[in-house]
Amino acid sequence: MSLISPWRSDFPGILALEAEGQTYLDSAATAQKPQAVIDALLGYLAGGAANVHRAQHLPGERATRAFEASRDKAATWLNAASREEIILTRGTTEALNLLAYGLQTLFRAGDEIVISAQEHHANLLPWQQLAQRQGLKLAVLPLTAAGDIDPDAASSLIGPRTRLLAVSQLSNVLGRRQSLQPLLQQARQMGAISVVDGAQGAVHQRPDVQALGCDFYVCSGHKLYGPDGVGLLYGRRDALAHLQHWQFGGEMVLEADYQTARFRPAPLGFEAGTPPVSAVIGLGAALDWLTSLDQQAVAAHEAALHQRLLAGLRQRAGVRLLGEPQQALACFHVDAVHNADLAQLLSEQGIAVRAGHHCAMPLLKRLQLPGAIRVSLGLYNDGADLQRFFDALDKALELLR
Ligand SMILES: Cc1ncc(COP(=O)(O)O)c(C=O)c1O
Repeated sequence: MSLISPWRSDFPGILALEAEGQTYLDSAATAQKPQAVIDALLGYLAGGAANVHRAQHLPGERATRAFEASRDKAATWLNAASREEIILTRGTTEALNLLAYGLQTLFRAGDEIVISAQEHHANLLPWQQLAQRQGLKLAVLPLTAAGDIDPDAASSLIGPRTRLLAVSQLSNVLGRRQSLQPLLQQARQMGAISVVDGAQGAVHQRPDVQALGCDFYVCSGHKLYGPDGVGLLYGRRDALAHLQHWQFGGEMVLEADYQTARFRPAPLGFEAGTPPVSAVIGLGAALDWLTSLDQQAVAAHEAALHQRLLAGLRQRAGVRLLGEPQQALACFHVDAVHNADLAQLLSEQGIAVRAGHHCAMPLLKRLQLPGAIRVSLGLYNDGADLQRFFDALDKALELLR
């Protein structure tokens, strides 16, 4: 079977890279952009850029309308209860730092934050540093060999001292989709706040924050086929009320004097300074484009590609998968071969994959690996991309072993 992507031709970046001899298999790091997103960015930039809010002129009004329309689209896409629950950030990392500072005053020495062993540094370090600032305990939920958060350990680690649970939906290393609902429910029963890192999860299954039952949900535009420098922070209305302001400047203030000031509530109170206007408009276009697709067809294509990737890796001697990936990506190492050497030989053959610790150093340490190669898929990838990858892998391994 040839496994053709009907969406490939929507991506000038993929076609340009292909013409250059490059096979792009690094979409978990950043995805290519469809023409609709490029058109939206160009339309805004070439049609007259302007700053948003408080503008009494036509370009400013136009930019504000397009900017705020993206907030509406994000609210609909995430199934938030209202547009006021969407804070536009500069990405997942910024959103998680916002939460770690904005929620700081809720914690007392001895309280606990619970994360899991799979977390990206973006969903580890802000909590680790908060724990250090406030004298908190950071508990880490262990994983099963497949890569699932161990439910028994979760039952004992999420307890009455837990003030916050922060977990990701889909690991950028293990490609495992976590069943978060029971964990989130447990956290709620303990009176803890829940944060879901959807940086990877949102890309491969449209999120429904109300069905998920989390207090906060974060994701990044650039992985969702949108621009970089923009992200979404969903906060349930009553959870947002706990947030203290964290960045100060223009836009977020209601009233200021030299010695005192009063600040806006969410969302604008958490969007200090000039926002990434073009990127927000581009993200709105990406969400429109994603919504327009046949979701079942996308899921079926991605699943078929992923199966082929796993089957090809499993049939090669000495290739060891990390965990049992279910979606989007696979990480592997090869007996007696350093991941950096392999990545170099793949790159020389035009294969764009990622090597190293994937911003999850503690997880790689637990697995006792210096690093791993990650192949990650976008909906534009096809069977020929995988064939080129496997041909290059075989050649590289022949040289290295
Ligand atoms: C699971 C996960 N969380 C968080 C991040 C951080 O996202 P960003 O760099 O867009 O802020 C990433 C990025 O790779 C990720 O994969």
